[in-house]
Amino acid sequence: MLKCLEFFSGVGGWHLALTKAGLKFEILQAFDINENANQVYEYNFGIKPSKKIIDRLTVNELEKLAANTWLMSPCCQPFTLNGTRLDDKDNRSKPLLNLIDILATISSPPGFIALENVPLFEGSNCCNKLKTTLKSRGYLIKEYIVSPKDIGNPNDRKRYFLVALNSDSELLHQDFLPQRIDRLPMKCPEMMKLREIERLPMKCPEMMKLREFLDVDVEYEYFLTLPDVSKLKNFRHDVVSPESSNCSTFTSSYEARHLKGSGSILQTKNFGFEFDRTNPDHLIHIGVRLFTPNEIMKIHGYPPEFKFPKQISIKQMYRLLGNGLHISCVSEVLRHAVMEKES
Ligand SMILES: C[S@@+](CC[C@H](N)C(=O)[O-])C[C@H]1O[C@@H](n2cnc3c(N)ncnc32)[C@H](O)[C@@H]1O
Repeated sequence: MLKCLEFFSGVGGWHLALTKAGLKFEILQAFDINENANQVYEYNFGIKPSKKIIDRLTVNELEKLAANTWLMSPCCQPFTLNGTRLDDKDNRSKPLLNLIDILATISSPPGFIALENVPLFEGSNCCNKLKTTLKSRGYLIKEYIVSPKDIGNPNDRKRYFLVALNSDSELLHQDFLPQRIDRLPMKCPEMMKLREIERLPMKCPEMMKLREFLDVDVEYEYFLTLPDVSKLKNFRHDVVSPESSNCSTFTSSYEARHLKGSGSILQTKNFGFEFDRTNPDHLIHIGVRLFTPNEIMKIHGYPPEFKFPKQISIKQMYRLLGNGLHISCVSEVLRHAVMEKES
C-alpha cells in the first residue's frame, strides 16, 4: 500500500490520478495553503489538508508521519517564461527546497516520490538539486515529458514528471512496483513509446475530438461579448471547434477571458464561415465561448463524481483547474512508473 503525503495538494490531482491508475493507496496527509483548494479537497475526499506552510515542515514532523510515498506538484512560476525564471532564488521555490533538504537527512526516506512541473523545470537548479539529493540517497530516477496529446486526449498540456524509487525500500518487493526499473529508459519523450513498454490495455489509440467533452445547453455567461473580444488590440485567441483534436493549455488566467495564451476558445456556430481571428465581429458571428469548468474537468480526466462545493465561484474553479493536474496523463505516468514489470 502506498502511504502518501500529497504536497501542494490543490484540489487533489495526485489523489485522483492514483485512483484512476488503480493503485492501492492511502493519503496520510495533504498540504496546501490555499483555502479554496482545501475546501474542494475536503468536500471530495473527506480529508482536511493541513494549511501548514511547506517551507516550515521539519524532518521530525515528516518522520512521525511515516509515509512511504511523497507526491508533489510545486509552483511552476519560478520556471515559466511568463514568470521571472528566478528558479531557486524565487521565494516560491522555498517549499520544494525545504522538502529536498528534509529528504537529504530523514532517517527513513520514502520508497516512492513523484513530482510534476512545467517542462522548463527540467535542468533548473531546483531540479538538479533534487536529482543530486535523490541519487545520494540511493534512488533510481525516471523522467518524462508527456502531453495529454500523447495518450489521445485532445489537449496540449506538456508537463515534466520525475518519478524516483528507493532501491532500499520495501516497496520494491511489493506486487505493484517494478522489479527491474533500472532497465527502463531514463527519459521517454513520448507516451506512445511508454505504452509499448508497459503493455497496459489502452482505450484510446486515436486522438479524440473535443466534441466528446462538450456540455449541452451552455449558459449565456460563457459566451464572449463584443467588449470581451475587443479588449485587447491584438486579440489572437486560439479558436477551436468541436471537430478539433486539440486545444491549448488552460491556465489559471483563463477566466480573465481575453488573455492570449490562457487557453482555447470554442466556436459554436457558422462553421463554414472563414473568419479572421483578429476581427472581433467575426468572433461574435461564430459564437465564441469559453470552455466551461465542467468541460475542462472532462478534458483533464476528472471523474464525474468530482464536484466543486457550492461556495466555490466559477472564477475560482477556473483558477484551481488551471493550476491543477491533467488526471488522465498523470495516471498514465504513474501506471507506467509503478506497474511495469516484465519487459
Ligand atoms: C501547481 S498547484 C498544485 C495543484 C494540485 N496538484 C492540484 O491537483 O490541484 C501548487 C499548489 O501549491 C500551493 N502552495 C504554494 N506554496 C505553498 C507553500 N509554501 N506551502 C503549502 N502550499 C503551497 C498552492 O496553494 C497551490 O495550490
